[in-house]
Amino acid sequence: MRSNLQAEDKHITAPLTETPIMETVSSLAGLRAQIGSWQQAGHSIALVPTMGNLHDGHLSLLRRARECAERTVVSIFVNPIQFGKGEDYDKYPSTLAEDKNKLEKYGLDLLFTPDLGQLYPGGTDADTRVNVPELSNILCGKFRPGHFSGVATVVVKLLANAQPDVALFGEKDYQQLLVIKRMVRDLCLPVEIVGMPIVREADGLAMSSRNAYLAPAQRRQAPLIYHTLRAAADSLRQDGSDLEAIERDAMHGLEQAGFRPEYVSIRRSEDLGAPTPQDTRLSILAAAWLGPARLIDNVQVRLNPS
Ligand code: PAJ
Repeated sequence: MRSNLQAEDKHITAPLTETPIMETVSSLAGLRAQIGSWQQAGHSIALVPTMGNLHDGHLSLLRRARECAERTVVSIFVNPIQFGKGEDYDKYPSTLAEDKNKLEKYGLDLLFTPDLGQLYPGGTDADTRVNVPELSNILCGKFRPGHFSGVATVVVKLLANAQPDVALFGEKDYQQLLVIKRMVRDLCLPVEIVGMPIVREADGLAMSSRNAYLAPAQRRQAPLIYHTLRAAADSLRQDGSDLEAIERDAMHGLEQAGFRPEYVSIRRSEDLGAPTPQDTRLSILAAAWLGPARLIDNVQVRLNPS
């Protein structure tokens, strides 16, 4: 009886003492000090860079990060230099208090919330940029000049200071994932880049902070981008002899439904090059405006070797 009570007491107090206390730091010095102490203790580090307004897509990266390493770090920073003039930098949703609540629940070890001066000590106009030319000027890069250089620049700053063993990114931004992998390869950075599958709403729409810009009727219309890509994937599997016709049909379908598509493109998954008949791993990628929101999505297609 007595020992049972003790066991119950223990049970009652244990969650309180074991509740993970998430640290938040905003300076690079604080980030380096905390991570350095973990590294000295022999712990591996996983980093999940984000711009906040966290949804289940972000949290799926965090979940995987916890499996990959002993300590998990998330950064929240809306990076001005990856937004073009007239884009949504000023209205990008900021929900730090809610984000912190979500992260606490996931047992995150460290949240890094730098301000502009920490990451851009020389200002955002005159600072050094990282370019990944071959992959940055096609698809989204064609419509958002400078975007991927902005992404690569901030990610290299985060990697250099957090020195993670692994960093996780979503396939939702497939071109971004490849840009980062290429940058890591070319700059010989000692980090493993892990890509994670797209997390979707029940109706198929890829989760994105920008979905919040959609009015209710647009939100109901939005999953069509995914269904169009799936239909294109079916056509590709049935007869992939005329890729341009498949792309054209998909563009046309989106236009008819009221989207303003920038591109629908079938590419080699490995490097986003033009597919050859020998390629078996293809990606169909699209970007389309629906009202005020620029939506991007992609599906991966595996073909049987011919
Ligand atoms: P953000 O849009 O906040 O996304 C952070 C990470 O979450 C990215 O790796 C993105 O691909 C992933 N992600 C977003 N939506 C997802 C979904 N539906 N399913 C799976 N993963 C998803 O991407 C950025 O921020 C920035 O460009 C950043 C890399 C942080 C650099 O500023």
